[in-house]
Amino acid sequence: MKLLVVGSGGREHAIAKKLLEYRDVEQVFVAPGNDGMALDGLDLVNIGISEHSRLIEFAKENDIAWSFIGPDDALAAGIVDDFNQAGLKAFGPSRLAAELEWSKDFAKEIMVKYGVPTAAYGTFSEFEEAKAYIEKQGAPIVVKADGLALGKGVVVAETVEQAVEAAHEMLLDNKFGDSGARVVIEEFLDGEEFSLFAFVNGDRFYIMPTAQDHKRAYDGDKGPNTGGMGAYAPVPHLPQSVVDQSVETIIKLVLKGMIAEGRPYLGVLYAGLILTADGPKVIEFNSRFGDPETQIILPRLTSDFAQNITDILDKKEPTITWLDEGVTLGVVVASEGYPLDYEKGLPLPEKTDGDIITYYAGAKFTGNSRALLSNGGRVYMLVTTADTVSAAQKKIYDQLEKQDTTGFFYRTDIGSKAL
Ligand code: AMP
Ligand code: GLY
Repeated sequence: MKLLVVGSGGREHAIAKKLLEYRDVEQVFVAPGNDGMALDGLDLVNIGISEHSRLIEFAKENDIAWSFIGPDDALAAGIVDDFNQAGLKAFGPSRLAAELEWSKDFAKEIMVKYGVPTAAYGTFSEFEEAKAYIEKQGAPIVVKADGLALGKGVVVAETVEQAVEAAHEMLLDNKFGDSGARVVIEEFLDGEEFSLFAFVNGDRFYIMPTAQDHKRAYDGDKGPNTGGMGAYAPVPHLPQSVVDQSVETIIKLVLKGMIAEGRPYLGVLYAGLILTADGPKVIEFNSRFGDPETQIILPRLTSDFAQNITDILDKKEPTITWLDEGVTLGVVVASEGYPLDYEKGLPLPEKTDGDIITYYAGAKFTGNSRALLSNGGRVYMLVTTADTVSAAQKKIYDQLEKQDTTGFFYRTDIGSKAL
């Protein structure tokens, strides 16, 4: 069987590399991918994620059994609907089901309607009304652009002034364009954050190990929000009872709600949760795998990933199994300056193999040579599995010490909350 993965980051590298491990998978194409993936035997296809008709033509010509869609913007653009209309199978939600991610207001409506615990909120398109709401609620308070904003459209404001300024930037200064034409303003939730992922088809779902991302750029959760600087799975200090409660009060209800709305969900559902004093509550839903969480979750899958997705697409019961001991942890290496401006074209260290996996996000070959240069904000990620969080940290950080990371930076405390 031949498969296609759509996307180009570390997440897609991890998905494609895992799929290629299985006996029945002859070839995995990635569109557009990045050159680092070629070192793992993946085939890059030079077609962008928004070129649906070219992707469809490619899938037909190459006998692709099904495609796995990585990025949120492709899903929001209806790539799965277009593939299905062309008679092709794709693993990911339809545009209408993906609205759980591409409109925070829609996600909130669904949660309220179907009783999923989440922060109290108001949605506004008029600045004066938003301001009045913020002043009435007081700080801390959270201001979110309604639409997709590359993980940057959320301001956790410690003062009323900061919150009003954020609403001003989104509603009046057009900071996020159309994505910020409406804002969701919500109650600040206090507690530990974690992510829960599930493979889903309709009301059937299969939970993955819990994961914890590190969204801030610098150590100690300082600095600007990024796409994610490192992660680990499972989160060892989260009791199984919290996972069970999240499944019962969140995952089951939202999936039932989506069916009732005529938008049955297919693909990976990602719930961003906070464990509050009143139990787990939703801070956001994403309609796809996380990046960098995929890179630390998929290495723990011990069943046949390709067969699992085939079965889920066919509504057959998949046999999904996970490593049940140890911790998988990964640290992202990013260009100095990320998430703001950064340089490209710096040489990358040798790819590691075996015990420590290298996943590439922004990497490009040098002219005709197979030496890799940096080509993005997040550049590569090192991932390993060990008995404990501290043993995994030691392996990764010892390796990073040996590498020449001039021009790059990474956090030195990934996983430390678990210690
Ligand atoms: P999001 O893009 O919605 O995941 O938000 C980015 C980050 O903002 C989250 O990872 C949280 O750390 C924080 N955040 C979002 N919503 C809330 C909330 N209601 N209370 C506290 N923190 C929040
Ligand atoms: N790691 C956060 C995200 O994928 O949205």
